Amino acid sequence: MRIIARGSDDHYVFTDVNQEEEVETAFWDIMDLEAVKKIVVGQRIDAIVNCAAYTNVDAAESNEKLVEKLNAGAPENLAKAMKEINGLLIQISTDYVFGKETYNIPCKKDQKGTPTGVYGMTKLRGEQKIIAVGCKHMIIRTAWLYSEFGKNFCKTMMNLTATKPRLNVVFDQVGTPTYAYDLAKAIEIVLHDYATDMACDIYGKSGIYHYSNGGVCSWFDFTKMIAEYNGMAACDVQPCHSDEFPTP
Ligand SMILES: NC(=O)c1ccc[n+]([C@@H]2O[C@H](COP(=O)([O-])OP(=O)(O)OC[C@H]3O[C@@H](n4cnc5c(N)ncnc54)[C@H](OP(=O)(O)O)[C@@H]3O)[C@@H](O)[C@H]2O)c1
Repeated sequence: MRIIARGSDDHYVFTDVNQEEEVETAFWDIMDLEAVKKIVVGQRIDAIVNCAAYTNVDAAESNEKLVEKLNAGAPENLAKAMKEINGLLIQISTDYVFGKETYNIPCKKDQKGTPTGVYGMTKLRGEQKIIAVGCKHMIIRTAWLYSEFGKNFCKTMMNLTATKPRLNVVFDQVGTPTYAYDLAKAIEIVLHDYATDMACDIYGKSGIYHYSNGGVCSWFDFTKMIAEYNGMAACDVQPCHSDEFPTP
């Protein structure tokens, strides 16, 4: 979003709980409802894109209270603040809301899921709370994000295939790797349309949307492609089953 904001006529305010190097940041803890309301009004915010979440899926299993507060309570706070000013909340959600059901076709927006972990359950509750508050909203479920920034699978595998002679990677989980820039670009289009015509009520439809790039692969296939693309084909990447990597 930061790269996209640079070329945009719209004014973006980036917020976080911690300072990131060389990034202009307004400090804003979205778990604090009063602080949220104050900033929304004080900075005359028209739309919020909520990317903040507790995203460590394994650690979430032993931190349920905090995860609930950040993944479900905070989106509710943002929704309440936006409801008061009739603003738009764009919430980034996840395929984890679908849980462990086996599916080998793209998930439908109204497909019922049974999230099995704390992360997925709290992200689903976040969606439900936004809908219950009833502000203008767009809940965008995405999956398998990667980019040149932060920590992500693609960067980890670039590093591992460059430094290890052999690697086992699971092939029994499939998904659609999605470039974060493409998602950000899609969000920019929504924001731009919204800024141009705030009465349009985001095409007349608050609701849940699914966004990913095209295609499908396993983590194993993705790793092979990452290695090849980065000239690390010498690393011997082998497929394995998920149960070889037990996680909480
Ligand atoms: N990564 C994926 O593959 C993926 C897939 C589907 C959906 N998503 C969703 O996409 C969004 C972004 O994911 P990500 O992978 O970019 O996660 P991330 O790198 O963990 O980013 C989450 C951000 O939230 C911030 N944050 C934590 N507590 C906060 C608070 N109380 N108030 C304000 N900000 C707070 C974090 O700050 P600090 O870093 O300073 O703690 C961090 O900058 C999340 O909603 C996630 O559920 C991600």
